[in-house]
Amino acid sequence: VPRVFSGVQPTGNLHLGNYLGAIVRFVEMQSTHDCIYCVVDMHAITIWQDPAELARATREVTAAFLAAGIDPKAHIVFNQSQVHVHAELAWVFNCVARMGWLSRMTQFKEKAGKDRENASVGLFAYPNLMAADILAYLATHVPVGEDQKQHLELARDIATKFNHDFSATIASNGFGEEFFPITEPLITGPATRIMSLRDGTKKMSKSDPSEYSRIALTDDADAIALKFRKARTDPEPLPSEVDGLKGRAEADNLVGIFAALADQSKAQVLSDFGGSQFSVFKPALADLAVARMAPIASEMRRLLADPGHIDSVLTDGADRARAIAEKTMDGVKDVIGFIRKK
Ligand code: TYM
Repeated sequence: VPRVFSGVQPTGNLHLGNYLGAIVRFVEMQSTHDCIYCVVDMHAITIWQDPAELARATREVTAAFLAAGIDPKAHIVFNQSQVHVHAELAWVFNCVARMGWLSRMTQFKEKAGKDRENASVGLFAYPNLMAADILAYLATHVPVGEDQKQHLELARDIATKFNHDFSATIASNGFGEEFFPITEPLITGPATRIMSLRDGTKKMSKSDPSEYSRIALTDDADAIALKFRKARTDPEPLPSEVDGLKGRAEADNLVGIFAALADQSKAQVLSDFGGSQFSVFKPALADLAVARMAPIASEMRRLLADPGHIDSVLTDGADRARAIAEKTMDGVKDVIGFIRKK
């Protein structure tokens, strides 16, 4: 069975983009793959996090996974910092990846902003840790949103260079031609890039200062309706064909969200709503979002009332993840020439 790995950062404000772009896909893949889903707390601290808030947000992402339908017994759900191999393998990858590769990462440039001298070293090396997450489990498939594409290409480059640099000892230790698989990113469906509700040119993000830019997973029905009502749009009615969405980023985004929530294509949505004003479409969208999201929000609240249970899910998942990752790391050590207890 092919193995899937993916991660979500516990940095607060989990939103509809994370849900439709990633978590829904995580749920779907459970029937065909062995899945490992990780709350990447070590990635979160590349930017300073309040410690109590980090722990709260880690439990919140875990609750979202479970509420959305991820089965932590059949698959693995854990938080990254409980498995030491992530840090250990990331160090090796710090020595495989090149400065030039990381300098080209657009997310680093965006997050570091103008004051690059003052960004943490971890923020720069972030994609190496991400490659370690995936490759510690020899995962072959990684479902993510569009914004992670460049990071996944880097993970492929790291795997390729490692396989090449150590080809002799990879073969002599009995691993054949490739130690690490060349991972496939899975970026598919109508929701790979959900945009801000305030600005159709910016992606919906956890760090946008405006609450109105995103639908939070924990929003109640009133908040969802209000945010869609206030969502920016143009004055034209919806077109009847997908082509008519060109140059109308905000309309395109809302139709895409509707399609993803309804498991339809944009063309189907427009065949129902072509010619409608936003004053008709937005309430329909809000009703659909509430119907789909409210049960998840209430299940999250129920789960979060028992943090001890959530922590035990994470610890149990970490124990099973560690067993897989340590085996990979033993192989890495043999291939590199690190002496270890056998
Ligand atoms: P993060 O925490 O920013 O986002 C979690 C997932 O949500 C997707 N996503 C979106 N999808 C559609 N529209 C949006 N507006 C939107 N915003 C976010 C992201 O693409 C992601 O799939 N570096 C990763 C976490 C990570 C990871 C990994 C992922 C760490 N290690 C290994 C895969 C494999 C991140 O910051 O995701």
